[in-house]
Amino acid sequence: MSNWIIRGGAVLSGTVPAQGSKNAALPILAATLLIEEPVRLLNCPAIRDVDNMLKILESLGCTVKREADALIVDSRTADNPVLPTALSGELRSSIFLLGSVLARFSEADAPYPGGCEIGNRPIDLHLLGLKRLNATIRETGGRIRCSAAPLLGAVVDLDYPSVGATENIMLAAAKAEGQTTIRNAACEPEIVDLQRFLCACGFRVRGAGTPTVVIDGVQKGHGTVFRVMPDRIAAGTYLIVAAMTGGDLTVTGLDPEPVDTLLLKLSACGCRVDRKTDSVRVKANGRPKAVGFTETRPYPGFPTDLQPQLTSLLSRAEGTSVVTENVFENRFRHAQELRKMGAENRIVDRTAIITGVPRLHGACVTAHDLRGGAALALAGLFAEGDTEILHAERIERGYERMDRVIASLGGTVIRKEEGIGEEEKTR
Ligand code: UD1
Repeated sequence: MSNWIIRGGAVLSGTVPAQGSKNAALPILAATLLIEEPVRLLNCPAIRDVDNMLKILESLGCTVKREADALIVDSRTADNPVLPTALSGELRSSIFLLGSVLARFSEADAPYPGGCEIGNRPIDLHLLGLKRLNATIRETGGRIRCSAAPLLGAVVDLDYPSVGATENIMLAAAKAEGQTTIRNAACEPEIVDLQRFLCACGFRVRGAGTPTVVIDGVQKGHGTVFRVMPDRIAAGTYLIVAAMTGGDLTVTGLDPEPVDTLLLKLSACGCRVDRKTDSVRVKANGRPKAVGFTETRPYPGFPTDLQPQLTSLLSRAEGTSVVTENVFENRFRHAQELRKMGAENRIVDRTAIITGVPRLHGACVTAHDLRGGAALALAGLFAEGDTEILHAERIERGYERMDRVIASLGGTVIRKEEGIGEEEKTR
């Protein structure tokens, strides 16, 4: 367990280079199993979820090494279709491996996936898709056992545009016999990045970014060098830091379009927003104003992964804001923690009603999940006094050394690793 103490009251300004995208890197890492040649990934973020995914790939027999800023995954040696229980339990994205392990070995054996506790996260759409591709699935003893001889292309209609299910089906279909069409596919930019990767490896995928993705099965892919897209959620989090602390912050290496729904909210709060082709600057302009109504939706709607951070910002805004969470049913646990810091909010079903207060104060709070933890870090930066965040290791699942980024912008985070008595102050 790692606890962070955040010193409140600093104005954070400066430049942050966008980190590589977690949600793009994880399915791409799963996809390396499809290719029996080394793959060189650039801009793969150094975060816990990626470390866990790499450990899982190693347990399947892949060889992984880091060389300067590249990550090299070689799946020629992969020989094991059984996913390890403990590691997969920590990482929801281990579910992507079902499709790629199945495509590689014609069988797969996986535990139910873990990850953030942000609601009941079923995998019915993943399994339905694999079944449509001719997989036989047995769910026994807490494990999912799949076999396919062979995987066959099919039309898969998704009841909901699930990001993970779309990606999993793309991975299983890449080497299947014939054509697969995914209808009502998710349109997130990370799915476009997975398509770019698969095509760079010689697979035939088109339509990503639209609701219809078409995959023509190819027997064999080849190695490639690939640069993972920038992380729009981490970038968005830092842009909110500027608004939260009254600062002036630029994220570089970022196409503004995927964060546009956030930028519109920040403008509505009164911030000055400057979009360039390859960077975004947000400059606060006094106390933020409330923004009326926001609801989370699949892309291009407002992302659920930025909802907790927006909730933090609105906690200090002038006026009342309403935020509805449509994607995950249990994603307001940070709101309860924010109340410990003096925030005024009320949760009714899937909606938070937030009455902004001029001041927050430091408190001891718990990061229940990755983005909720980031939201508490934002509130801690604004609050008067120190805020202690318990289970801050959950933030490290998705942000590359957030403590150092905060320090580079003029803030202070003291990191305490429980158990080894280590204390590290970053400012
Ligand atoms: C991905 C992202 C996550 C983000 C989410 C929504 C990764 C590694 N994670 O998660 O950060 O919050 O997209 O943008 O990319 N559902 C079902 N059955 C299924 C699958 C999903 O009912 O088989 C439901 C979920 O419970 C949830 C909704 O669909 O209510 C969205 O889930 P999904 O789009 O699949 O999210 P993830 O892929 O898990």
